Amino acid sequence: MSVVFDSSKIISLDDESFRSELLGIASKMGDVIPLGRGDPDFHTPKHIVEAAKKALDENKHHYTPPSGLPELRNAISKNFKEKYNLDYNIDEIVVTAGVQESIALAMLSLLERDDEVLITSPRFTTYDLTVRMCNAIPVPIPTYEKNNFALMPDIIEQKITNKTKLIVLVSPNNPTGAVTPPENIKKIADIAIKHNLIVIADEIYADLIYENHEHLSIGTLENMKERTLTLNGFSKTYAMTGWRIGYIAGPEDIAVKMSEIRHSLSINSCTFSQYGALAALEGPQEEIIKMKEEYNLRRKFCMRALDEIGFTYGDPGGAFYIYTNVSKSGLTASNFCKKLLENTGVLLFPGTLFGDEQDKYIRLSYLQPIEKIQESMKRIKGFINEHK
Ligand SMILES: Cc1ncc(COP(=O)(O)O)c(C=O)c1O
Repeated sequence: MSVVFDSSKIISLDDESFRSELLGIASKMGDVIPLGRGDPDFHTPKHIVEAAKKALDENKHHYTPPSGLPELRNAISKNFKEKYNLDYNIDEIVVTAGVQESIALAMLSLLERDDEVLITSPRFTTYDLTVRMCNAIPVPIPTYEKNNFALMPDIIEQKITNKTKLIVLVSPNNPTGAVTPPENIKKIADIAIKHNLIVIADEIYADLIYENHEHLSIGTLENMKERTLTLNGFSKTYAMTGWRIGYIAGPEDIAVKMSEIRHSLSINSCTFSQYGALAALEGPQEEIIKMKEEYNLRRKFCMRALDEIGFTYGDPGGAFYIYTNVSKSGLTASNFCKKLLENTGVLLFPGTLFGDEQDKYIRLSYLQPIEKIQESMKRIKGFINEHK
């Protein structure tokens, strides 16, 4: 007898079939240049790998406290102090299996049925799914190219209702690379205080800020620390996506609740990965600086090439993405991605995969060596000329 599953309606999956279609096409082609994913092409710095190996050799094979190794939480606490002059004691910090798990823990510990969550958009759609897991409602806060995709305080105010509980502030943002400027962040803090909202500040890209752009960590503003959860991790800055280590800092009572929930989900983050993360924070930072310099060279190259093609974009102040308007090609962004891939082997993803309702933008991630990026831009130019 076959079993018919009546699947839960709490989570309705977004249509990911287009991503799979593009990846399917790419898998059958040779010479593909992938500019779609958000995974650094650099490897994790050697001293971090060595620290994890040493932990294994020293029999660090066991559980840690659910909130993480005290040494690692101490290093994270020191980092908050040095970087932002923020005082978090180690009981206010929870180490997680990547920022991905931090997002779920934050939502599960704070939300009740029908609460509304305002989310910087276009967006990292994990936010939608985790909000829905709690029977709560994701509310996109649109950002626009004319504002360089910065989050605008007046648009946030328009979306607030008596059900609004959280603002998710992602700066720099994925997929736009937008850095919301300090003057907007200050106004967003005032709005959070006025309406008694909690802010989830996803700062996973905060170390990847370029040129004249400036990151302001909202928890540093007056009366904000007590209403902010700051999320950060090692995946992007340290090229450690596979290690699965992130963290959350916030008020101790919420941290305690999050560690209880995380104990039920996964007990603790991988122990030897935590030793790697400790070495990342305590060890030399030269390689991080070099990676960032290289990202910036690639970023500037892509911006120049897009200018030559005549594709516009919001100023990408951070992360490693450029959110580009491809309307000039005469194609929708989805069609552009498909035809470009089939004709040239350059793989990009449309903004529709990031909750963008207008099918006009693509996310370009410059996570390939510069020679490959140069080649991809040549191919894009050739494709546009042929399809004029
Ligand atoms: C905005 C944002 N938050 C969180 C994550 C998850 O990162 P992690 O690898 O730390 O789980 C990503 C990954 O792309 C992201 O872009």
